[in-house]
Amino acid sequence: MSPFRSIEWKNGRLRLLDQRQLPAQTVYQDYSDYKSVAEAIQTMVVRGAPAIGVTAAFGLAIAAKQFQSHPPKTFLADLHAAGEYLVQARPTAVNLSWAINHLLAIATDLAEKTTPPTEIAAALLSEAQTLYQADIEACKQLGTYAQALIPNPATVIHHCNTGALAAVDYGTAIGVIRVAHEQGKQIHVFLDETRPRLQGASLSAYEMKAFSIPHTVIVDGASGYVMSTQKIDACIVGCDRVAANGDVANKIGTYNLALVAHAHSVPFYVACPTSTLDMNLASGTEINIEERTPAEITHIKGQQITPDDTPVFNPAFDITPAKYITALI
Ligand code: MRU
Repeated sequence: MSPFRSIEWKNGRLRLLDQRQLPAQTVYQDYSDYKSVAEAIQTMVVRGAPAIGVTAAFGLAIAAKQFQSHPPKTFLADLHAAGEYLVQARPTAVNLSWAINHLLAIATDLAEKTTPPTEIAAALLSEAQTLYQADIEACKQLGTYAQALIPNPATVIHHCNTGALAAVDYGTAIGVIRVAHEQGKQIHVFLDETRPRLQGASLSAYEMKAFSIPHTVIVDGASGYVMSTQKIDACIVGCDRVAANGDVANKIGTYNLALVAHAHSVPFYVACPTSTLDMNLASGTEINIEERTPAEITHIKGQQITPDDTPVFNPAFDITPAKYITALI
């Protein structure tokens, strides 16, 4: 178990570790209103595809509790509207809508059996807790299963943050790295800093330090130089959505990393739980890519770094075509 928890259900409230303040400060925020949960997802108090899926599930369970005194006729409609509100918070990671649809299907089924709203609210909370545990298990299994691909010793490049902070525990790509380390493999990780929000430099380096995993932070543009001058065994990344043809949406810069890996014949692995698969979309071109505020690029820690009114394009994710992915784990 990690020495920190990204998400916890505590004293009847949702508790989130505010990842915007890491590594400088460890601050937890409590939530008992579904709109505030949606805001926490949108403003990236919590982030990472599996983590926002589980958080949204708790968000919907909170909404059900908020609505449980509504008449049964409006309860379900109100719950669907709350689900839509939560889904809008961040559009790219399919884990979010997957979790909401999963809980709404349970609520609808119970409502059809004339189950009272109080019991439906209790069932949704219980299901959110089940998803919470299932995420830990899935990530652990993923990390163990992937070991056949990780040599010993191994030097890998990782992008963004995909660890215990991006899930309930372990995480996906960092879960693979963590299990390798736990199994005694000599693994060294180059962490892309991951502009503009620096999840690699702040969050992944925080996790590597917490688990004593040897690591080195590099700027995103350094991966080509690193691959051309050092023996890199693999690139390992997570993802936010996989289309039916195997194209992958992940943090902006993933596609560049995949191209460099391809040019250097370095295996490029993408790790994710099944809740990240979206068989409804034929290819990556159909994935909705979130665009975030220009301020993430024009400012660093509140300090403006571009001239006034500089035009900015800030897609939070990109699409890596399946042909550049060696394996989906
Ligand atoms: O914008 P973020 O920080 O939520 O982006 C996170 C990523 O892109 C991760 O690589 C992805 O969600 C997989 S996390 C296990």
